[in-house]
Amino acid sequence: MSEQRPREKWGTKLGVIMAVAGSAVGLGNFLRFPVQAVQNGGGAFMIPYFVSLLLLGIPLIWIEWAIGRYGGLFGHGSAPFIFDKLWKNRVLKYLGVIGVFGPVVIFIYYVYIESWLLGYAFFAVSGKLLALSTPEAMKGFLLTYQGLSPGSNLWTAYIFFLITFAVNTWILYRGLKGGIEWLCNWAMPLLFVFAIVVAARVLTLVVTDPAHPDWNIINGLGFLWNPDFSVLGDSKVWLAAAGQIFFTLSVGIGAILTYASYLSHGDDVVLSGTTAAATNEFAEVILGGSIVIPAAFAFFGPVGAAQAAGSGAFNLGFVTMPLIFGRIPLGELFALLWFLLLFLAGITSSVSLAEPAIAFVRDEFNLVRSRAVSFFAVATFILCQPAIFFLGRGVVDELDFWAGTFCLVVFALAETIIFVWLFGLDRAWEEIHHGAELRIPRFYRFIMKYVTPLFLIFILGFWLIQQGWPTLMMHGVSPDNVPYVLATRLGLVALFIGIAGLVRLAYYRRKTA
Ligand code: ALA
Repeated sequence: MSEQRPREKWGTKLGVIMAVAGSAVGLGNFLRFPVQAVQNGGGAFMIPYFVSLLLLGIPLIWIEWAIGRYGGLFGHGSAPFIFDKLWKNRVLKYLGVIGVFGPVVIFIYYVYIESWLLGYAFFAVSGKLLALSTPEAMKGFLLTYQGLSPGSNLWTAYIFFLITFAVNTWILYRGLKGGIEWLCNWAMPLLFVFAIVVAARVLTLVVTDPAHPDWNIINGLGFLWNPDFSVLGDSKVWLAAAGQIFFTLSVGIGAILTYASYLSHGDDVVLSGTTAAATNEFAEVILGGSIVIPAAFAFFGPVGAAQAAGSGAFNLGFVTMPLIFGRIPLGELFALLWFLLLFLAGITSSVSLAEPAIAFVRDEFNLVRSRAVSFFAVATFILCQPAIFFLGRGVVDELDFWAGTFCLVVFALAETIIFVWLFGLDRAWEEIHHGAELRIPRFYRFIMKYVTPLFLIFILGFWLIQQGWPTLMMHGVSPDNVPYVLATRLGLVALFIGIAGLVRLAYYRRKTA
């Protein structure tokens, strides 16, 4: 076997924080979070949210950063062989397959949704979008764009998909420092500027309808944040909060693990991990909380805002927000900023979803980056097609449930148990603190060992009972869609087995080298 190539490294400390924050700050911050908050007790939602952040999110961030950096020491940047390094066992590397499979599957639909944002940014400027003034017309536009309304086709969406896919591939091709870090170094500050401008515009809206003077921003903020403490006894609210923390911080995916594998062993993971998480929380709670819901309230009142939130995150972003921009001066400009900020939030996340698979083939098969990226691009381009052409058949929902929900919790549980229990708490604690300027409070030893895994087991059990079984049995799937959902499942199983086969091959290649 040829000599192992040296692994890439991040350029600067700020660059890696930007890249991890870029992975975390995504559509979840600006669309998913406000919807979750409104639907789960408003201000009271912040109690389970912050409890989940402190007991689940933050410890998992330190664990993932430390595991990733440890794997990088041995030339491994993806979960299968990092798990194998942490604890020698025949099956652990196959458990690690989740950390390559999950992000690949999320990438497949995430990159397509990201491309809608580019398309909508274009239509915002062209004037076509804001000319639509009713919710029905705006919804019709979205369905036509997605090829879901009768007689519509997918050409426009496909062109924006090709552009988005090509840009992602190009960034990945340029490498860690010249591509991902370069992108995040300018896209993250720009995204924040755009978000602050849009939030400032929303927060300075005056009464939009003289017949309803109470439809104002202060009441809009009150609508989002007024606490309803009665919901705190409902376990669903706690699960929603924990799910949001996972999604928004990008923990349990495998992406941060890979990013951290490009650190040097002396790099501080405690401070960097905490800084990236704090950046994400600012984008989510402060900026994400100040845009869609208060704006929807100011224009459509309490009933309209509740309806908009109830219709889901996509409707809020692609239907409600353009309707609002259509009614304010310089609406085209603000709509452009809105869709560009979401596009930048999306692309800085999607490149992070691609990296675990790229690192896997590079590290384990000793490929140069350009070949690994070409391999990844061809494979995922093919895999994206069902998500695009069968969107209306429940394919994306299916991919999202297994990769974006189920795998996250299983993978986070696996990482925690392997690192804290099998590798050992004392070694794990030392590994996390290697090169750290700050010490994590000691009570986090207890949290990492008991509270985090138990919390995860509880979530997993509850999800399995509440959603897992009905999902497995395809309850709620229309009979027409059943063959598509089944085919998606078979495809996912085949993909998982395929990646596991590559892990096996890599293992024997190393053994016989
Ligand atoms: N963490 C990313 C988001 O919030 C996936 O969208």
